[in-house]
Amino acid sequence: MSLRLGDEAPDFTQESTQGPISLHQWLGNSWGVLFSHPADFTPVCTTELGLTAKLKEDFAKRNVKAIALSVDPVDSHNRWINDINETQLTQVNFPILADADRKVATLYDMIHPNANATLTVRSLFIIDPAKKIRLIITYPASTGRNFDEILRVIDSLQLTEHHKVATPGNWKSGDDVVIVPALQDPEEIARGFPKGYKVVKPYLRLTPDPRA
Ligand code: BEZ
Repeated sequence: MSLRLGDEAPDFTQESTQGPISLHQWLGNSWGVLFSHPADFTPVCTTELGLTAKLKEDFAKRNVKAIALSVDPVDSHNRWINDINETQLTQVNFPILADADRKVATLYDMIHPNANATLTVRSLFIIDPAKKIRLIITYPASTGRNFDEILRVIDSLQLTEHHKVATPGNWKSGDDVVIVPALQDPEEIARGFPKGYKVVKPYLRLTPDPRA
């Protein structure tokens, strides 16, 4: 059965460019972004891994560890990393799982046979520190991912974890947020949102980002 939001992220031990990794232990108390690539030495993947390396500080300040996967072996990954570093002007600073036996790809349903019988699609999972899956996105091989969007979702997940709010469409950190409809007690609203709020409709109440 395929994975759904709220499911526990399946644990595994697999080879990587940084040695064998057991996912849950490796994540520790961090959030995780686990993302798959169709294959090594492919152009779109090369740009995606370069982008991820350049976002190291952005991930670190959100307490997020990135981990990539493709179904090629470690020696191939290592040769490819040299190309990524050279062409993307960065240093790949996160592990790439070498899933030659497709153990992880199978666990996470990353091979979609009607798209490609053997290669992984561009799957991406955000995993929280409790090891629950909080986001699943699947892109086709021909479309590189927008990593600013991944950071945006992490910001939303981390904000809504601690405040009774949700984030509107196209929200970015610092923009107004909405008070969750379930929160109706005026005293609790006043306590929780001392900056005030605007009632656009009874179900649409905007308030400044509580952390800003
Ligand atoms: C790529 O990662 O560049 C790619 C992979 C498969 C098909 C097309 C592009």
